Amino acid sequence: MIRLGIVGAGSMGGHQARQFSTVPGCELVAVCDLDAARARDFAAEHGISEVYTDLAQMLAQANLDAVTIVTPDSYHKDAALQAIAAGKHILCEKPLATSEADATEMAAAAQAAGVINMINLSYRDSAALQRARELISDGLIGRVMHVEASYLQSWLSSNAWGDWRTDPRWLWRLSSEHGSKGVLGDVGIHILDFASFPVGEISAVNCKLKCFDKADGDRIGDFPLDVNDSALIRVEFANGALGTVHTTRWACGHDNSLRLRIFGDTGAITIDINMDEGWEKLQLCEGSNVNRARFEAVDCAASPSIYQRFIRSIERGHNDQPDFARGAELQRVLDTCFESDREDRTLIV
Ligand SMILES: NC(=O)c1ccc[n+]([C@@H]2O[C@H](COP(=O)([O-])OP(=O)(O)OC[C@H]3O[C@@H](n4cnc5c(N)ncnc54)[C@H](O)[C@@H]3O)[C@@H](O)[C@H]2O)c1
Repeated sequence: MIRLGIVGAGSMGGHQARQFSTVPGCELVAVCDLDAARARDFAAEHGISEVYTDLAQMLAQANLDAVTIVTPDSYHKDAALQAIAAGKHILCEKPLATSEADATEMAAAAQAAGVINMINLSYRDSAALQRARELISDGLIGRVMHVEASYLQSWLSSNAWGDWRTDPRWLWRLSSEHGSKGVLGDVGIHILDFASFPVGEISAVNCKLKCFDKADGDRIGDFPLDVNDSALIRVEFANGALGTVHTTRWACGHDNSLRLRIFGDTGAITIDINMDEGWEKLQLCEGSNVNRARFEAVDCAASPSIYQRFIRSIERGHNDQPDFARGAELQRVLDTCFESDREDRTLIV
């Protein structure tokens, strides 16, 4: 039985605890959160026996095989380096860090220590995405020419997920002082991975970011509201394809929607994910349907979740994807997007 400890008892921590509870061969035995009451409540809710407020103490006392890091982004590096130094396998939330230099340091440390390391790019769990990658590599849609990808949320304009003005769970995501890199760092990383996993490496970007006014003095309490909440990226892929990738927190009508359209010279693939729907279905246009401009639905066999694949990686001693090196690669794309926005020009990644 693989003994797991979780760092961060917030919303995503709860999701992870529920997911790991369905994976055979592992047991969540310890939780660590700076907020002692939250850690205790979390332990009670998920049947976890050991509760900590200090990661070093958890690593020293809990007899763990692996750690999953689910804190706000700015603490991922420190937590991961401590866990790696203690020889633990690690699943780390996205983004891996808040800069390419930090992400690269984490990837190198994990590799040197020989621990299993994965980054939680959750949308890799989509069977449709996995199938799209296979279809493209089999040449079914020919040479990829054009890509359109978006990740839309609306929590700044709706209250479906609570009131961002009063809830620290949302406020830290709006504040650079709290380690946020805005919508680009938060979910832009998902859509950049979602587009480049099937299509191929991103070689150049031209990015425009915008932080809209949303409170008096652009501040609420301890939280300066200074990070981007919309991002537009013009992308060039190493294989020559062009694309647009965009994301925003202001998309009324979309709680959590990812869309990917990939156009090749002999066909096209579309994936639409809306919350829990669409993960296992893609639309394909190929063969005689090209001349009719018609898509047909393809049901894709479910693929294992990242939680299953993390545990299986530990059991087999073989690191599955996406690993920390992939996290660092994406961080490089993000850093280049920020620089491109600052300099208002296209930059090579
Ligand atoms: N993969 C995904 O699809 C996905 C979805 C949501 C969030 N996330 C990621 O998960 C992470 C957490 O997000 P969330 O929504 O759960 O945030 P949250 O604010 O709901 O929870 C974060 C928790 O971490 C705790 N914490 C803060 N600093 C800590 C520290 N130094 N040590 C221990 N605990 C600490 C906080 O007290 C809080 O309980 C973020 O990196 C976010 O990007 C990923």
